[in-house]
Amino acid sequence: MRDSKHAIEINNLTKFFGDLQALDNVSFSVKRGDFFAFLGPNGAGKTTTINALTGLSNFKSGEIKIFGYNTRTEYVRTRPLVGLCAQEFNFDPFLTIYQILVYQAGYFGILPGEAARRADALLERFQLTSKRNVKHRALSGGMKKRLLLCRALIHDPEILILDEPTSGCDLELKFLIWDYLTQLNQEGKTIFLTTHYMEEAEKLCKTIGIINHGRIVRIGEKKEVLRDKSLETVFLEVTGNE
Ligand SMILES: Nc1ncnc2c1ncn2[C@@H]1O[C@H](COP(=O)(O)OP(=O)(O)O)[C@@H](O)[C@H]1O
Ligand SMILES: [Mg+2]
Repeated sequence: MRDSKHAIEINNLTKFFGDLQALDNVSFSVKRGDFFAFLGPNGAGKTTTINALTGLSNFKSGEIKIFGYNTRTEYVRTRPLVGLCAQEFNFDPFLTIYQILVYQAGYFGILPGEAARRADALLERFQLTSKRNVKHRALSGGMKKRLLLCRALIHDPEILILDEPTSGCDLELKFLIWDYLTQLNQEGKTIFLTTHYMEEAEKLCKTIGIINHGRIVRIGEKKEVLRDKSLETVFLEVTGNE
């Protein structure tokens, strides 16, 4: 791995879907070991940025580097450095959850014995061992979320990217996921998550980036960003005679 102080560097990223400009000259970086929240409303461009970062989609112009490696010209280097928890469940319906993990390890050249060891260790860590030999449709929603995490971690990536990891979760699961992510960050993983919950960014992260309409609106240390008066929400309760 290149000795870069930035885990992620995005420079002038621009992306169109037909006439729609989804990303407009997006530039920011994420430090090694950071816990970064990419905050923005629906349709802001969060998933599009993640897809570009992980090589799932192309972009018109700009450049992305992962630990100093270019995601376009050095894709073979950058992809193993990143683990992705997608927004949607996208598991192979014909495989058991254990097989899902072992097959995923294979994509990264991890040999079967080592893949089996890692799969069992992750299932244990995320309390899925009792479901090892069932298919994913037999899991509850919360278990599927945890399986997404296991799959993203099977190749022990330096950066964990999570697209709205707690949307649709009940409170208990949300807190459990927050705990896992905090632990993983303390173990040294750089975490990049997208969310449209200010509370989530406030609770978990060290750095916050805000995107709206494909443009970076604000970026900085959490405390600094949260001090910004223009981001405050004011709730008014109006009472009066009926
Ligand atoms: N595959 C696609 N084809 C056309 N438009 C898309 C596609 N994916 C995303 N978009 C559009 O790009 C914009 C950004 O979307 P997205 O990155 O998914 O937002 P977010 O993840 O912040 O909710 C939205 O206007 C969305 O409708
Ligand atoms: Mg999205």
